[in-house]
Amino acid sequence: MKHLISMRDLSADKTLQLLKLAERLEKDPSQIDLSRRVMAAMFYEASTRTRMSFESAMKRLGGEVIGMVGTSGTSVEKGETLADTAKIMARYSDIIVMRHPMEGAARYVSEQVDIPVVNAGDGANQHPTQSLLDLYTILKSQGTLKGLKLALVGDLKYGRTVHSLAYALAPFNPTFYFVSPKSLRMPTHILSDLTQKGVSFKEKTTIENIIPDIDIMYVTRIQRERFPDREEYEKVKNAYIITAKLLTKAKDNMKVLHPLPRVNEITTDVDSTKYAYYFDQAENGVYMRQAILATLLGEAK
Ligand code: CP
Repeated sequence: MKHLISMRDLSADKTLQLLKLAERLEKDPSQIDLSRRVMAAMFYEASTRTRMSFESAMKRLGGEVIGMVGTSGTSVEKGETLADTAKIMARYSDIIVMRHPMEGAARYVSEQVDIPVVNAGDGANQHPTQSLLDLYTILKSQGTLKGLKLALVGDLKYGRTVHSLAYALAPFNPTFYFVSPKSLRMPTHILSDLTQKGVSFKEKTTIENIIPDIDIMYVTRIQRERFPDREEYEKVKNAYIITAKLLTKAKDNMKVLHPLPRVNEITTDVDSTKYAYYFDQAENGVYMRQAILATLLGEAK
């Protein structure tokens, strides 16, 4: 495993190894030492959790972090290309973690440099480290990844986390409910891939009737910034609002996940219910990203 660009590149065995390492690191981070190693964060797009949990992960394992938060103050403003910026970062660091609005940007950079590259989100395409931490969270909350029923709710067209998650769960015999407005359906190439892999899924436009049936409700934000047409966003922005009242018929151990940030799609009264698990999910990002950094830097034991 040289880079982490897409969940499609990751075997089920490698995924399980990362899950086991994350579990070990949550219990005892002192078993991995990344001192004198440097992570370069190249974030061309906004981020709170991904960037900071990667930084926290690196620093808690003894490593250092350099990088950019947006392009302001960097030579990208003078017209420096992505390839050139990446080649320079690769001379200053041991691993690049990057987020970019262009689909395919991380794969492109991985072809330009000799150090490992981690895709921390490329446009509406993939967000594999989010999916790995989502798998870790689902495993912790349900005790298994196998045979679960999951509703993926909201913006399934532009939400890159749900694209990666569908691939990440595919080897574990899931049943998916893809719940979205018609205009924000899961892309057909992903539905075709899932069909080819024999994954069971149903597409829905409403959530109410399936709540008693599911183990995981994975809610996503409607991705305003990716809509070419503001009017189209206005039509769907309030499509799903999950409230505590709506969850009264949920299974006891059903958990609500959300990659965050949320806008209005989960009301704050859900936070104090036994179903809310999205803040734990964000914390799990540190353990999983420690496992990813250690593995790609050849330090996983
Ligand atoms: N989940 C996630 O990617 O959050 P950020 O955009 O804050 O990094």
